[in-house]
Amino acid sequence: MNKQSSIESLQQEGQSFQPPQEGRGQAYIKSMEEYERAYARAAEDPEGFWADRAKELITWDAPWDKVLQYDYNKPEINWFKGGKLNVAANCLDRHLTDGRRNKAAIIWQGEPEDEVKVYTYQMLHTEVCRFANVLKSMGVKKGDRVAVYMPMIPELAVALLACARIGATHSVVFAGFSAHSLQNRIQDCQAKVLVTADAVIRAGRTIPLKPNADEALKGCPSVEQVAVVRRAGNDVTMVEGRDHWWHELMAGESISDKCAYEVMDSEDPLFILYTSGSTGKPKGVVHTQGGYLTYAAHSTQWVFDVKDDDVYWCTADIGWITGHSYILYGPLALGATSFMFEGVPSYPGPDRFWKLVQKFKVNIFYTAPTVIRALMREGEEWPAKYDLSSLRVLGSVGEPINPEAWLWYHKHIGGGRLPVLDTWWQTETGGIMISALPYATPLKPGSATRGLPGVHAAIVDSEGKDVGPNQGGHLVIKKPWPGMLRGVFGDPERFKKNYFERFKGMYESGDGARTDDDGYFWIMGRLDDVLNVSGHRLGTAEIESALVSHPAVAEAAVVGMPHAVKGETIYAYVSLRTGIDPSDELRKELKGHVRKEIGPIAAPEFIQFADGLPKTRSGKIMRRVLRKIAAGSTSMEDFGDTSTLADPTVISDLIEGKLALV
Ligand code: PRX
Repeated sequence: MNKQSSIESLQQEGQSFQPPQEGRGQAYIKSMEEYERAYARAAEDPEGFWADRAKELITWDAPWDKVLQYDYNKPEINWFKGGKLNVAANCLDRHLTDGRRNKAAIIWQGEPEDEVKVYTYQMLHTEVCRFANVLKSMGVKKGDRVAVYMPMIPELAVALLACARIGATHSVVFAGFSAHSLQNRIQDCQAKVLVTADAVIRAGRTIPLKPNADEALKGCPSVEQVAVVRRAGNDVTMVEGRDHWWHELMAGESISDKCAYEVMDSEDPLFILYTSGSTGKPKGVVHTQGGYLTYAAHSTQWVFDVKDDDVYWCTADIGWITGHSYILYGPLALGATSFMFEGVPSYPGPDRFWKLVQKFKVNIFYTAPTVIRALMREGEEWPAKYDLSSLRVLGSVGEPINPEAWLWYHKHIGGGRLPVLDTWWQTETGGIMISALPYATPLKPGSATRGLPGVHAAIVDSEGKDVGPNQGGHLVIKKPWPGMLRGVFGDPERFKKNYFERFKGMYESGDGARTDDDGYFWIMGRLDDVLNVSGHRLGTAEIESALVSHPAVAEAAVVGMPHAVKGETIYAYVSLRTGIDPSDELRKELKGHVRKEIGPIAAPEFIQFADGLPKTRSGKIMRRVLRKIAAGSTSMEDFGDTSTLADPTVISDLIEGKLALV
């Protein structure tokens, strides 16, 4: 059964799950009526609603002048402008006096089982102040950019909060990206300092990281100083005068534990995070201070219903937005205990996650569908070995969760009783936009359910007109929300064009979706040339330009191919230069080339050599045809209208090539 038909069959059966009764009385939002009331209030008086949340959740050093000022035509968006605050002070300092000083802020589990570190709010505060002083001693000032390229170790959290403390803008680059990707991102944001580590420990292996940083920095004159954490103890080359060991910097006699925080305007930048779009160059999504933090804290509280004595675990990497908002900023702003794990779900065995849930009595667990699908394949006997009764709320993010995976998660992890929240959002939205609330929303497997209060999600046609239920269309957000992006770093044109130009007065998400008769959202996936591989967002154009940068390649077209675990996998059609013969070695070399150019996550799983690509007479590659061939279509009827193709015979050649490959 394919995904769509299984969704429909579930809907037809009307299979839905009521929220649990137990725990409802203590929930932040206790019922659907309460949700509806909050939704209506936020719709009638958005400024009042968000001002209340911002006052409740955030400590401000000075009040704002105006809650919201915006103009999507420019575009310019200001939330709580004139309001003063410091994000690190909100995540740390205020918890030193609110009774949480000795509470665990971060519980870190290293990949080796015996490596555990606990940072209380007091301890984390001290580390952050020290590293903030280190950054200052390196010449970092308010507004400067600091690049961060690190494994999932506590120093990563310390580095980000230290940036926030002194008003520097952090730009995290996921450690799985290559030297070349790191270099592009540093060049784009002109970072002054890089924070990195000797290696990443992953699935029992030590993967050197510092050599990538060295390679990247060859083209980054803006970077003056580098701080290097010793994680694995492997040999690294340190460049005299530029590179410094983290532990030596932190032990410096002149480095104090005290560091007054920088008072920031609500609209000063907090961080840049690069994400893929439909062109070759990743976009530096800019988030600011007050609105972002309000939104991160608000959504963490309402969606996950995090309570003071909960252990909350988001399994993402801090290199992605999910880690920024739901490992770091959201939970720490609330004074919660955030569990951080260095390892992977499958090592040393496919029970690692469940073992940790049992070990730390995790209450709230937030992961990705690809993880669930991979663990589901290993069989339910793995989770069955553990006591998972501490769990209260389960979440999912990154891609659509197919009903089969949802039901497995619900039954085998949630004991058939826990709410499974499918949360839809994006790097650009800063936080969760469409999601059930655990004690309020009846659940339908495969649906992200409804917009959170204050989120005006809608489906429109290509003219921007609302479409009714059960019709596919563009997913847009009609009103601003505090967590939304404020720009694309250094590229105002792209900011406008990507998000605000096509549909006047709305934010364009780039996703397709529909609503059902109950107003529930069913997300269908990207409408643009962006792939979602294991919940990681990758631009086809980025991968294509990596492929054509290889001397053997004349032309390349990349599409997504359906994959049972990853959701989508990368399928590349490659035309070679004249005189170059296709071979398995070349295929391997090209995969390695993309790995080196972008990172392992972008390497195509399949490369099909093709003499010609299906092009229209105007020279445009007809991607839908390539997607169909990759997905296994062999009948011409599947390809729709191909009358504009310059040479329709390429299709049969491509089908033959596909059958020979997979
Ligand atoms: O296509 C949607 C998909 O992931 C995209 C955003 O990717 P990124 O910016 O990397 O952020 C991922 C984590 C927030 C979206 O445009 N996506 C994310 N969550 C879901 C989803 N698709 C369906 N259902 C979801 N719950």
